Parts: sequence; C-alpha cells; structure tokens
Amino acid sequence: MDSKPVSRRTILQGAAVAGLAGASGFVPTKFAIGNTAKVKVGIMLPYSGTYAGLGEAITNGMKMAIAEKGGKLGGRDIEYVAVDDESDPAKAPENANKLVTGEKVDFVVGTVHSGVAMGMVKVTKQSGTITIIPNAGANAATGPMCSPNIFRTSFSNWQTTFPLGKVAIEKGYKNVVTMTWKYAAGEEMIGAFEEHFTSRGGRIARQILVPFPNVEFQANLTEIAALKPDAVMCFFAGAGALKFVKDYAAAGLKGIPLIGPGFLTDGVLKGQGEAAEGILTTLHYADNLDTPVNKTFRAAYEKQFGKGADVYAVQGYDAGQLLVQSMAAVKGDTSAQPALIAAMEKAEIKSPRGNFTFSKAHNPIQDIYLREVKNGQEMVLGVAQKGLIDPARGCMAV
Ligand code: BEZ
Repeated sequence: MDSKPVSRRTILQGAAVAGLAGASGFVPTKFAIGNTAKVKVGIMLPYSGTYAGLGEAITNGMKMAIAEKGGKLGGRDIEYVAVDDESDPAKAPENANKLVTGEKVDFVVGTVHSGVAMGMVKVTKQSGTITIIPNAGANAATGPMCSPNIFRTSFSNWQTTFPLGKVAIEKGYKNVVTMTWKYAAGEEMIGAFEEHFTSRGGRIARQILVPFPNVEFQANLTEIAALKPDAVMCFFAGAGALKFVKDYAAAGLKGIPLIGPGFLTDGVLKGQGEAAEGILTTLHYADNLDTPVNKTFRAAYEKQFGKGADVYAVQGYDAGQLLVQSMAAVKGDTSAQPALIAAMEKAEIKSPRGNFTFSKAHNPIQDIYLREVKNGQEMVLGVAQKGLIDPARGCMAV
C-alpha cells in the first residue's frame, strides 16, 4: 500500500463516480518497465478455533490458483503476510490494521466470519486497500458498506438460503424450526430463508439462537423433539457443523428433515458419516459438479494437499484467480488503482462452481445448487436458482 491513504481514497472516489471511464485508456508505466518490488498480499483468516479448517482451505486454494499461473502477480514476486483472526470480531480492527498500517500490504484477502468481516471492511474501506472477501457472507459488505475497493469471491448470506425457502415449500414443509449461532451469518441466512418461505405461506414455529461458537446443543435438540416441526432449517459451519449434525442424529431426530445452507455439510461430510445422510442444502458449489474445471481443480487440490477440496477451497481459489487476472491487466502496477479495480469488475472467473462475473456491488452472480447427501456424497439435484444476484440492499453503487 502507498503511504498516502487520503490520495488513494480520492482515486477510489474518482473511480466510483466516473464509472472507471479512464480504464480503457490506461497505459502501464513504471511497473511495465521493470519494478521488482514484491507484491504484498495480506491474509486475514482464522487459523485457530471452530473455523480453522476453513481458513486453511481458503489459503490452500488461493495459493494454488496463483502457483498454477507461475506464482507471480503481474510479473512480480509475492510476499504473503498472514494473521490469525481467531474468528473474533473484537480483534478485527486491530488485526486489519496490522496488515494495512503495519505491513502496508497491497491487498487484503479475508475473512471467514461475518462479524470479523464487518470490522475488517471498516478499516480497509477507510484506507482504500483493495480487499477480497473469500468467505464471510455479511450482507452489509456488499450492501450498505459496499465500496469500489471491496470485492467478494464467495457469496452474500442472503444468496445461500433465499432459494431454500421455495425448496422447503415444494417439499411440503409448512412448519419449520430454525436454529443458528447468534451472529450475522446465521441470522441473515435464516432471514433470507424466512423471507422466501413465509411469502409462500410457510410458518416459522420457533427460532433457536445459540452463542457463537457454543457446541452444547442438547437442550435445544430436546426442545426440537417436543415441537415436532415438519423440518429444521439451520446454519452451522466448520467444527460446529460437524458436531451439530452428529448430535442431531444421536438425539434420534433423523425423522425430522434437516435443511440449510451447504455449510452444514461442506468440508465436514466425511466426519459426519451416516448422520449426514439425507440432509438437503442449497449452496453455490457441490463437490460432484460434473464440469472439466471442477474435476481438474479437485484432482490438483487432492494431489497437493492430500485431502478433498470443499467450497472454502473453491472461494480461495477464485480469490487467487481474481488477483492473477487483475494484476495481469495492469502489468503489476498496484499504483494504478482505478485500472486495477476496473479489471476486477470486468473479470470472468472460471470457477470450479461454474463461471461467474461480479455484480455492481462486487458480489458473485452465480447459480445456487440444490444438494442432498446420498451414500456419503454431496449429490447435485439441480439448480435451485440460476444466476442469482444479491439485491445489495443499501449499496449506493447499485
Ligand atoms: C460467515 O460468518 O459469514 C460464515 C462462516 C462460515 C461459513 C459461512 C459463512
């Protein structure tokens, strides 16, 4: 990052109002003639706690995408600087500042937890540092807090479960209990489900909220058994999802269908085993997508890391692709920020999930798949909603 955040903000504002009109006439200057400084990529992800596995998969995916294209960005070598954000929202501003002010990174790639993302985005929006969110779905990041320098290669929380509301109605569920950790991700995913489900006549019998990252579910499962809903819709991810699904089955609740965003099983399906059979989810990815890009990606990931890829690895991979494409467009000149942002806005990502482009608010426009766990595999039943664009409520750019 340059040492003049104020002038960078001015550039960003110019980019926003001018619709990046100057981008087409852009001629790379000093980097094209041989700047050898390393590009600093700041990584802010959880490497400990409930979401540690997610942070690791994102990092693997991102580095793999960049390595596949020669391990450089726009011809420049890379220095990665990583911080473990511990999925702790209270530490988010300090962690983001370590990268932005302390390390003066050119890019921030982060994070997983929606609450942490809010604190991080506040810092990077202010500094103007180009930021790629490779997971956290906080609606506000591409809603009221949207900014020319903030991009997301994952999803908005709204996107993942809005289609599930219709799916639940079509399955004949009328009375549903929802359950989640009490923070933005779960509340927004359940909110989007509820929006669609109740607009078609569904009813939410009870909303159960547990503190993040609590995994003591027994009392709640007893309550669900007593309520006897048609289905339970819930959000948990990482180690919490692993435990919840096992506890649900162990409590004898398999007779009540379990539905939710795909995070309920992604990355933890093997550990959940038999307990996950029949779980119906919606998500922008599925392991078994039958495309050459997905097959090649999965084989390469497995070979390199000795385990299967999941949605988090895909989102990291796509963050890496976005960096590669946009830095190539400006020939490594990170000071040409309006052109860099214009290249990111125009990027077409050949993702293992299927090709996608970015909305005006910088969120992926993508298909949402309907998946069901069958014989220990995440099977794709079809597309629940095609080309879904997050409404970006509150974003002034749309
Ligand atoms: C979130 O906090 O936004 C989130 C965390 C894990 C999986 C999906 C979303």
